[in-house]
Amino acid sequence: MASDHVAGAPADRPELAATVHIETRRELGRADRKIYGHFLEGHFFGNIHGGVFDEGSPLAIDEPGPAAGLRRDVIEVCRALGVPVVRWPGGNYASAYHWEDGIGPREARPRRLELTWGGREGQPREEDNRFGTDEFLAWCALAGAEPYLNNNARSVEEAVRWVEYTNYAGDTHYTRLRAANGHPEPYGVRYWGLGNEVYGAWQMGHRSAEQYAADAREHARFMRLVDPSIRLVGVGWHGGGEASRGEAWTRALLQQAGSLLDYVSIHLYGASCHLFAAAQEQEQEYEAVVAQPLAFEAELRAYAELVRREARRAGIERPLALALDEWNMRHLEPVSWPIPQPGADGDVAPRATPSAGQDSRQRLRVNRWSPRTLADALFYAGVFHALQRCSGLPVPVGMANTVNLVNANAPIVVRPAGVVKAATYYVWELYQHHTGPIVLPVVVEGPAPLRGVRWGALLDAEGQFVARQELVPYMDVVATLSEDRHRLHVAAINRHRTATVRMRLVLDGGATPLPPTATRRTLGAELDDVWAYNTLSRPDRVATRDQGSVEVPDGQADLPPHSITVLSFARRSPGR
Ligand code: AHR
Repeated sequence: MASDHVAGAPADRPELAATVHIETRRELGRADRKIYGHFLEGHFFGNIHGGVFDEGSPLAIDEPGPAAGLRRDVIEVCRALGVPVVRWPGGNYASAYHWEDGIGPREARPRRLELTWGGREGQPREEDNRFGTDEFLAWCALAGAEPYLNNNARSVEEAVRWVEYTNYAGDTHYTRLRAANGHPEPYGVRYWGLGNEVYGAWQMGHRSAEQYAADAREHARFMRLVDPSIRLVGVGWHGGGEASRGEAWTRALLQQAGSLLDYVSIHLYGASCHLFAAAQEQEQEYEAVVAQPLAFEAELRAYAELVRREARRAGIERPLALALDEWNMRHLEPVSWPIPQPGADGDVAPRATPSAGQDSRQRLRVNRWSPRTLADALFYAGVFHALQRCSGLPVPVGMANTVNLVNANAPIVVRPAGVVKAATYYVWELYQHHTGPIVLPVVVEGPAPLRGVRWGALLDAEGQFVARQELVPYMDVVATLSEDRHRLHVAAINRHRTATVRMRLVLDGGATPLPPTATRRTLGAELDDVWAYNTLSRPDRVATRDQGSVEVPDGQADLPPHSITVLSFARRSPGR
């Protein structure tokens, strides 16, 4: 990976070069559209109330039935994006959730103490249960998304009854209830989770590997009796920095329940300190944010291999996939700062944030209202590249759900006055609408400095982030074909903070000519501020720029610093 400066480039803004080899005659894998999935969590920082559900808002549906109170503007944006799948009701919230609290006439539903997110930050909370199963499924139908229901995995009967309520076609107490609640036909919910992060002491119903594996098996067996077509996600764990614990967890799960599962879950979070980093540290933070997809990809590959190995050891023939059913970039800040609140414009409400001292990294929290930035957009694009590449593994990534769909660091920000498409919304749009499902092998020859890659939010004893030395290529490129093979899409991230990279595309070692023109879309190219974000008053600051048809002479294109570019070529000969 030699550094390759382009002759004649101005000294203050060096240009770099990269050659991208694409093999169009071989498939690396098939990217499942569910890798572009999302997550909504009960009682979680504006996901539901004030997010998808906003009773009394002039922007909400005002007609009787489960759709009453759903925000029309949110549905429209999600429909246009093509949200493939949404996990609900959690997350941590799922572990304490009883689905029967959330059905029937809204005013008759029980108010419960909310023990998952309530009580944190000194704010005890109550759950009114006005948004429940029928509301969520009505929302999914309107938004065109597949539901993924996650049960608490603490009661087989409760789980069985939930499947019966949503999917069973016969005449039972629960199917009558469903009809009485306005939906005589089964909903046909395909994706079901068997709990959340059960390995963690923070979870209600936290259990040992063996206990959980036995519970997962029993849940799976009886849920499948109600509807054999359901697809089940078992709680996996890569160990969160302790590989041996992840191995023991995964082994127990697969030995006991593996033959009944379709997916094994994994959760990955990145960490950014740009909110409180001193001015001179901001460049490092940028580098840290955009490099973290490397950690995600390494974790996904390692976990896929572990699942493959343990499934084989357990004699499981059923195909398994990974569900990265929680992921995001967490914006951290000192706990000494005032608790962040949503601002009316789509930002965090103004507050005094004293400069953070050296020891501030010891006590950090996630700012759940921090808007998504251009740097995040590059990170998300990098994760999509990793997910596309991991679609070809023996245990592929078959689903991914970002945390979250709306508010709480999401691609869609909802406020009383309207909806903001965050910088990261445009990444979904680019990859869902302008890349294809057939993933091709790609090799990038280009500059790749050695950097410490932050491994999630893990801190060492000194309060420093755990980082591994890795070669971090400035360029990350994926190439895909449309289903009919008529279009070749090349998505390229230039992570370099200041330098343009001249990319040269070579197909099949030069044997396949490249059309001289392509349509070109870019994100971030015209911006200088990598922490730029969108608000209601400045909605398009970070957005895709459609440049129409452009020349790509000799397969060459210049990629501006800190940007994403997607080139789409019409193929003369689509091949097989
Ligand atoms: O940030 C969302 C929470 O993070 C989820 O509820 C939990 O599963 C994860 O630890």
